[in-house]
Order: sequence, then structure tokens, then C-alpha cells
Amino acid sequence: MWSTYIDVALLSSPVLAFLTVQHPKMHSKPSNLQYFLFTFVSLLLLRYAASTYFGTSEQILLGTCTTVDQPNPIASLYPNNATGTLNGTVAVIPISLKLARQLIPPQYGILEHAYRALLPNFPRGMYPAIVQALHDHEVQAFGYKIDDFTRTGIEFPFVDLLNDNHTSFKWAPSLIMSAGHEIALKGAADYGTNVFPASFEPGCDAYRAVPKAKKPRTTSFSALSLDSAASLTTLFSSTEEEHFPLSFFKNFTNQPTFADGKTCDNMIRLFNTSLTTAPNGIERVKGTVRANIHPFGGEQEWRGVYGLRMDTAFIENNYLNCEDFRGYDGLE
Ligand SMILES: *[C@@H]1O[C@H](CO)[C@@H](O)[C@H](O)[C@H]1NC(C)=O
Ligand SMILES: *[C@@H]1O[C@H](CO)[C@@H](O)[C@H](O)[C@H]1NC(C)=O
Ligand SMILES: *[C@@H]1O[C@H](CO)[C@@H](O)[C@H](O)[C@H]1NC(C)=O
Ligand SMILES: *[C@@H]1O[C@H](CO)[C@@H](O)[C@H](O)[C@H]1NC(C)=O
Ligand SMILES: *[C@@H]1O[C@H](CO)[C@@H](O)[C@H](O)[C@H]1NC(C)=O
Repeated sequence: MWSTYIDVALLSSPVLAFLTVQHPKMHSKPSNLQYFLFTFVSLLLLRYAASTYFGTSEQILLGTCTTVDQPNPIASLYPNNATGTLNGTVAVIPISLKLARQLIPPQYGILEHAYRALLPNFPRGMYPAIVQALHDHEVQAFGYKIDDFTRTGIEFPFVDLLNDNHTSFKWAPSLIMSAGHEIALKGAADYGTNVFPASFEPGCDAYRAVPKAKKPRTTSFSALSLDSAASLTTLFSSTEEEHFPLSFFKNFTNQPTFADGKTCDNMIRLFNTSLTTAPNGIERVKGTVRANIHPFGGEQEWRGVYGLRMDTAFIENNYLNCEDFRGYDGLE
């Protein structure tokens, strides 16, 4: 839109100059021609900058912007499965069990004994909700690769979908996702997920370093829905504290995931590829999450949230019968 205005200005600029040069009064000022040349060149530069800038955001929507993410290391191992990589941050947001009970649909139990078995010291009366802020990279199957995209949301693990008091499922009711990526948006909506097309900062990477931050290795991520109030921002710094064991993250990230409960998504995140086993492949982080996303009412802020910043490869099996996961404990 701006570039159009500038184009109009550029087109009329020679006309203005002509009028200026022809005008008797102005003719007497030799600097007018210089001024005209200066504005013409300025507009030309701005036009160039605008097309570069706006071209970039169009490229983000089209998914052609470049990422620094490492390639998918398992595509050739599982050529007939959907595989990809997930780079980003996953963190635990402790909320009261009472609030969890209000947010999670009443027909599903919460497997408190399951998360307590993994986290014996987790505070009484609390429940571990999860935030994930991830960049999906080189997602492919049968040699077809889709464009990268970004997504974020708050998820609820250890949900007793089958009412067997044993199998943990993860309820992921809402996702804020890259606008314009019709395949990913539809893929999530088909689970009954509330999908919020959004713009992200950074546009095509998992997070961005915050220059001159006081805390070590501070990074930011933000998502803003284009057509609703949904948003989510994070600020994380590295920490030495091992607040939750890695086994806990492995456990809940690999729980079958559902939204409306009609079908289940089996996302298998692998912690044993070169992406994750590299030195500093998994970084412990602590920070702040601010979110305005269903099923929470209004904006929330959680400080002192602990998580992991990492890149993992994944295999994804979509739209499965949830009942088939009865007794499923995840891979190890
Ligand atoms: C994950 O993303 C961050 C931020 O863009 C990048 O610095 C890092 O190299 C990525 N990790 C891998 C293994 O690609
Ligand atoms: C790959 O896909 C096949 C067919 O959908 C499925 O049976 C198999 O379990 C998948 N492999 C993995 C490792 O998930
Ligand atoms: C995940 O945790 C549950 C509950 O403690 C346990 O039954 C299950 O075996 C764990 N799965 C893995 C892969 O560790
Ligand atoms: C569910 O299983 C746990 C652990 O085995 C047990 O302590 C609890 O009483 C069970 N709950 C119900 C409702 O059966
Ligand atoms: C990595 O883990 C997966 C799932 O646990 C397993 O199937 C695979 O064999 C492992 N790969 C390597 C190289 O250990």
C-alpha cells in the first residue's frame, strides 16, 4: 500500500519539477532543481526499501524466507512417514489444579498420579500446563516438503481422554499459527483446534537473541493473531537450575494430542538425533510467558517459568483413532 503511494509520488515528481522549473518566480531559484532531484532520489530509495521490506513479509507468508534451522536429519530414514524438525521452547506453566479443572472439559479426568510419579516434588494442588513456541522446519513425507511455519499455544498434558485412569493424552485446544500457511492451518483445524492465523517475530525462525540483555542468552518470541485478540510472547534466558528433569519433558511432549477428541495426533519427538545431542543441543531456560489465548480468559502472565530450548526431529502420525492409544506409554 505504501509503495503505491510512493509510486504515485514518483510519477508526479517529474511533473512537479516541470511546473517548478516553468514557474517564473521559482525559476529565479536555481536550488529548486536540486531540491527536486533530491526528493526524486529519496523517493526512489524509499520505494526500493519498501519493496524490499514488504517483499520480505510477503515471502514470510509464502514461506520462502530463509531460516537458520539445521536440516531434517531423519527424512531419509522414514521416507514414507511425515517427518520434520521442531525448534523452539517448551516450558512448564504451573497453574492451580482448580483452574485446570475449570479449563479442561469436565468429561475428562486429570491424571494427577501420573505427573506426580514423574515429579514427586511438584507443589500440592498444582497442575503442569505447557507452553510450546515452535518453528516447524522441513516437514515432509513421500518426498513432498511443505513450507516452514511457526506455531504456539498452551497445552494440557496428563488428561484421561479414555477414562482408563492410566493413559495420558495432551489436550491442545488452541494454536496460533503462521498466517497464509493453508496446509498447516487446515491440518490443525481438522483436529477441532481453535486456529488463530498470526504473524510472528521472528518471522521464520524459532526465536531471536535479545541484544544487550542483562541475563545470559536471552531470547524473545512473539505471536500476534491477525483477526483476533490472541497473542503469545516469551522472553527466556538460560539457567543452570534443573527445575524439571528431561524425562518429564520427554514424557509429555510424546503424549498423543487431541483437541475435540474425535481423532488423535501421534507426534513422536526424538531426543536422540544430532540436532538434540549436539553440545548445548538442549538448553535449560527460565523466563516469562504472556498470553491471551483460549481457554484462558483474558491476558495472563507467568514469571519464573522453567523450560527447555532445543531442536528435535519428529515423526508425526495424523488423525488416528484415540482409542488405539489405550495403554500407550510413549516410546523410550
Ligand atoms: C534453532 O533456532 C535458533 C534460533 O533461530 C538457532 O540459533 C539454532 O541454530 C537452531 N537450532 C538448530 C539445531 O537448527
Ligand atoms: C510410519 O507410518 C506408518 C503408516 O502410517 C505407521 O504404521 C508407522 O508406525 C509410522 N512409523 C513411525 C515410526 O511412527
Ligand atoms: C510417562 O509417564 C507415565 C506416568 O508416570 C508413565 O506411565 C509412562 O511410562 C511414561 N512414559 C515414558 C515414555 O516415560
Ligand atoms: C487411579 O490410579 C491411581 C494410581 O494407580 C490410584 O491411586 C487412584 O485411586 C485411581 N483413581 C481412580 C478413580 O480409580
Ligand atoms: C532414537 O529413538 C527412537 C525412538 O525412541 C528409536 O526408534 C530410534 O531407534 C533411536 N535412534 C537412535 C539412532 O538411537
